[in-house]
Amino acid sequence: MVSLADYRHVASGKVRDLYEVDDETLLLVASDRISAFDHVLSTPIPDKGRVLTAMSVFWFELLSGPDVAAPPVGHHLVAARDERIPDEVRGRALLVRRLEMIPVECVARGYLAGSGTADYRRDGAVCGVALPPGLDEASMLPSPIFTPATKAAQGEHDENVSFETVAAQVGADLAGALRDQTLAIYARGAAYAASRGLILADTKLEFGLSPDGALVLGDEVLTPDSSRFWPAEGYAPGSVQPSFDKQYVREWLTSPASGWDRHSGEAPPPLPDDVIDATRARYVEAYTRLTGREWPPAM
Ligand SMILES: Nc1ncnc2c1ncn2[C@@H]1O[C@H](COP(=O)(O)OP(=O)(O)O)[C@@H](O)[C@H]1O
Ligand SMILES: [Mg+2]
Repeated sequence: MVSLADYRHVASGKVRDLYEVDDETLLLVASDRISAFDHVLSTPIPDKGRVLTAMSVFWFELLSGPDVAAPPVGHHLVAARDERIPDEVRGRALLVRRLEMIPVECVARGYLAGSGTADYRRDGAVCGVALPPGLDEASMLPSPIFTPATKAAQGEHDENVSFETVAAQVGADLAGALRDQTLAIYARGAAYAASRGLILADTKLEFGLSPDGALVLGDEVLTPDSSRFWPAEGYAPGSVQPSFDKQYVREWLTSPASGWDRHSGEAPPPLPDDVIDATRARYVEAYTRLTGREWPPAM
């Protein structure tokens, strides 16, 4: 029996911890940590790590399944059930191929939301992509666009950049491949989500290079943490749409009840139990609605 202590800790992000299994293989462990406004909160959300892991597995399989004529790219998943995965993290840990990650947040947007809305209102464009006038919060875009961002250091905010900036950073060929793959995966994800009554408004992907130089999809994919899913029923552009992510958390943190000022630079307060429960329920609902499977999954 293996335990986590048998593996060398390689790195930790806001939500995931990475361990080395061997030269080619990593253990990617999703915690129940939740971040909001670029802070990792002191209160975890029970089951969140398992939801994100099960959803990523669902998508990795769907994106490379036999029903897909031309899988967009390979992905890093090696196994979700394996004797090399310690019991203590089973269900929220994946064995993955070790990649050299490309430091670009590869975002595709089919609708206007978040920093997309803010940039559009300021510039009439997002990441240098000009958009027609008259769009509003949550408007559908004429066609999905690639809006990359630079990966910020912990605690910093990702910054939207133009395609040309990415091309200057990683080379025009790789930048073009990142754009094409991101838009292909978004299209596939949006079509599937639509079949489940959900709008995939946008998503953020991370890619890496395998030792043989192939472009590989890494990290998490099409989860509530990396994507905005809106119920198609009740979709009404013109205001912020309800989504299956940290909306409860963000609303509580910015309400008078929390007593927190997000511009104070101070750490947010712990979440009350009802906010934790409601947030957990939203994550689980995202999983069951999207996959059509019951919670918890057998893993
Ligand atoms: N196959 C892989 N090989 C190497 N690093 C990976 C792989 N998949 C994901 N990562 C990295 O693991 C980390 C995941 O941790 P996470 O908490 O999601 O980070 P972040 O705070 O940047 O969102 C990220 O830095 C991501 O780039
Ligand atoms: Mg991440």
